[in-house]
Amino acid sequence: MGVNKKLSRSATTKQGPAGSKTRETMAIFTSDQIEDFNRDGYLFVRGLFSEEEIGLLGETARNDHAMDQASSTMDDGKGNDVRLSLWNHPGDGVYGMVSRCRRVVDGVEQILGEEVYHYHSKMILKDAKVGGAWAWHQDYGYWYQNGLLFPDLVSVMIAVDPATKENGCLQVLRGSHRMGRVNHTLSGEQAGADMEHVDEARKRLETVHCEMAAGDALFFHSNTLHCSAANNSDHARWALICCYNARSNDPYKESHHPGYTPLEKVEDEMVLTVGRDDARRSSVAFANLVEEDESAKSLAGSDS
Ligand code: SIN
Ligand code: MN
Repeated sequence: MGVNKKLSRSATTKQGPAGSKTRETMAIFTSDQIEDFNRDGYLFVRGLFSEEEIGLLGETARNDHAMDQASSTMDDGKGNDVRLSLWNHPGDGVYGMVSRCRRVVDGVEQILGEEVYHYHSKMILKDAKVGGAWAWHQDYGYWYQNGLLFPDLVSVMIAVDPATKENGCLQVLRGSHRMGRVNHTLSGEQAGADMEHVDEARKRLETVHCEMAAGDALFFHSNTLHCSAANNSDHARWALICCYNARSNDPYKESHHPGYTPLEKVEDEMVLTVGRDDARRSSVAFANLVEEDESAKSLAGSDS
């Protein structure tokens, strides 16, 4: 399914400063796609990024010494490494162009029905042989701790490498976003959803393995339960996950992720323009997860 197939591209809402063209929301999805998202808690968009675009993104990330240095590694409890690098502000490099481009941001705005801002992005560095497993969780299970009253957030996972069952593709529990927020607790170094609820949910809901080609994207709701297995294969499974919060869901307290910060959208062509320009490709400020991430730590020893 190509995202552009039945694209009407009509401006549906106007938000933000009067006359600000970048704040128009163009219709990216058909009403059937929005219905699918609302029913399932996720939506696949195959080929959202072209081979050249995703190649430039992957090449930039793989040569990004700062990203490598900034990455945090957690033990998955079975001896494998869960590794990621995270940044709060999208910036003007190729990561920023991907997370600010219309086909992504307008899609998220269409799903949430209002203006959104960039909550953070992260590169999941699931390396061959050593890449660790992610426990079942809802993103809102973490983010609830950050002063967000509503689960009005959407994440967009963009496959940088092909994701397969063998290299630990994402798994989602179809329709689980309708369960509301499940309690999360810290187990080892990872926060995960209460397994009694997960086990019962798994008896009733379909577990979907999100096999993706490089450039495919998965839009998913912040209460969609998801996990992934370790990567025992010879193939890395890197993925960029861009997370957005609704403007009306501005957090009531400060945390290590930003409150409402206007997102300046860019035209889709900018991914290639910036990606092809050696001087402009990289550049974001990476966060120090170990010191700054209070949302998982605050779950230690708590039931909530
Ligand atoms: C995440 O939930 O943030 C990452 C999961 C994965 O990449 O498998
Ligand atoms: Mn997650």
